[in-house]
Parts: sequence; structure tokens; C-alpha cells
Amino acid sequence: MKIIQTIEAMQAMAYKLKRQGGSIGFVPTMGALHAGHASLVRRARRENDVVVVSLFVNPLQFGPKEDFKKYPRTAAKDLLLLKREKVDVAFIPSVQQMVPTGFSTQIRVPSLDGVLEGAFRPGHFQGVATIVTKLFNLVQPTRAYFGEKDYQQVRVIRRMTEDLNMPVRLVACPTVREDDGLAMSSRNRTLSRRERDEAVKIHQALFLGRELISQKIMLDSRRLVKRLSQIFANVPGSRVDYIAVVDPETLAPMKKIRRPALLAMAVRLGKTRLIDNIVIP
Ligand code: PAJ
Repeated sequence: MKIIQTIEAMQAMAYKLKRQGGSIGFVPTMGALHAGHASLVRRARRENDVVVVSLFVNPLQFGPKEDFKKYPRTAAKDLLLLKREKVDVAFIPSVQQMVPTGFSTQIRVPSLDGVLEGAFRPGHFQGVATIVTKLFNLVQPTRAYFGEKDYQQVRVIRRMTEDLNMPVRLVACPTVREDDGLAMSSRNRTLSRRERDEAVKIHQALFLGRELISQKIMLDSRRLVKRLSQIFANVPGSRVDYIAVVDPETLAPMKKIRRPALLAMAVRLGKTRLIDNIVIP
């Protein structure tokens, strides 16, 4: 596995790979890798001649009060995982390389970036879209792999690549979960033992929501959200940022629930903020 740390070396590598004519599969990550990331890497490995994975904790997508400094960084372990998965190139640029002094350009997808996560994390998707554009320019991928765990992120990136005719095929991959249903996340490792036990309620709430919707028991989204919020009412130190039912394409809120629907939520447990979602077909 080749480890690349500079923009110039990544550009030279992409140029060389392009000339060889094979397909490039790309998995952008912020490191602290887990089985969810590994599933994207494996799929990229199956479908492409060359696999590039980036590890970069992107400061542009963290708000001033968010966990950029505290975001888990486990580079040595990450590299072992990538080697095991037979990745060809690990791209690990520094912040100074990616966002040098004077960096100013921003990419925005306003029709999708103000709701759900965007409402609680102003500027977040702008930071994601900007860095993903930069990474796509550097890596020149044939296919790029994203997880449905970050459903809104997939929608934003898809809109962006379509609007700007970026020559990359996006592949959305299913959410990988722990045995009890908790979606794998780099942030899970900052949960205390008790919070980890409570975290399963997020998946339970999604599951209950799916049943209430698909059995047509509760199709009024306000009532449904109220019912699901109750699951967290007695969890000490928890706070529901949002539970929402929206159109899976446009992310527009639904009053009366139609299908397909996206049920999405963000819940804080102590200092950790977790998101999850489910599409009800
Ligand atoms: P990160 O949170 O490291 O996630 C990298 C990719 O792994 C994303 O596409 C995410 O959706 C996917 N992923 C995370 N947990 C998953 C799970 N349990 N199952 C399946 N896929 C999962 O998302 C980002 O980084 C950043 O925003 C990034 C796209 C790298 C831009 O900085």
C-alpha cells in the first residue's frame, strides 16, 4: 500500500493511474475506521482496479463549538485495516495541504443543506461538499463510495455531482450496525458505558417508527415524532436534536406520511451526538 501525504504526489499518482486506463474506486473518510468504513472499502475493492482511501479530518465541516479537536484519530490502526483490505493508496494530507492560508472557495447545495443535520450544523454540508470536490479533483475517481448512515450527505453529494457534471459514479452503501442495531460510527468510541447501553434506543426508535408507518398505524408525522421522542424522555443526559419524517429525494418535511419516507434522527448522549436513519419503502 502506498501512503501519500502531499497534493502533488496524489495528483501525480492519479495522472499515472488514469493513463494506465483502469478504474479508480475512492472512499473518502475522516479515519477512526470501523466495520462501516471497511464495508465501503471492500465494495470499492470488488468493483475497481485500484482503490484509494483518504483519511482527513476536515476542519471545514466542523462548527466552532463542535468536536474537531476531539475527533478520534487512530492513524496507525487505520493503516493496518486498509492494508488488510488490500487498498492500493492511502491519501493522508495535512490540514495545511488541504486548507492552506487564504483558502476561500465554497461549494453549496442550498436546496438540501438547510434541513435535518444542516439545521443543527450550519455550514456543515458546505464544508463537506467543498472538501469532497477537492478530493475528487485530486483522486479523479471512477466511482466514489458513501454510506447511507449519512443519508443527507449522500443526497448533497449526488446533487452536486449531477449539477456540476462531475465525472464520477456515486455508490451508496447500506449502514453497517453493531449486533444490537447501533449504527457503527467513529463517535461511538466516545460514549461512556452507560451511554453506549442507552444508544441502542436510537435504533429501537427507528424500528418502531418503521412499524408504525408501514402498518399504517401512525401516519401523522407530528404524532409519530412525539411518540418516538418519548423513548428518550427518561434517558438522563440525552437530548433529541430532531426526529423527522421527510421525502427521501427532496428531504422536504412530510405532514401526512406517504411512502417512500425517510425517518431520520439526531440524539445527543452526554457529549456525543449520534445520527441514524431508515428509509421506509
Ligand atoms: P466519515 O464519518 O469518516 O465517514 C466516511 C464514510 O463512511 C461516509 O460515506 C459514511 O457515510 C460512511 N460510514 C460511516 N459509518 C458507516 C456505517 N455504519 N455503515 C456504512 N457506512 C458508514 O462522512 C465523512 O467521514 C466525511 O463527511 C467525508 C465524506 C469523508 C468528508 O469529509
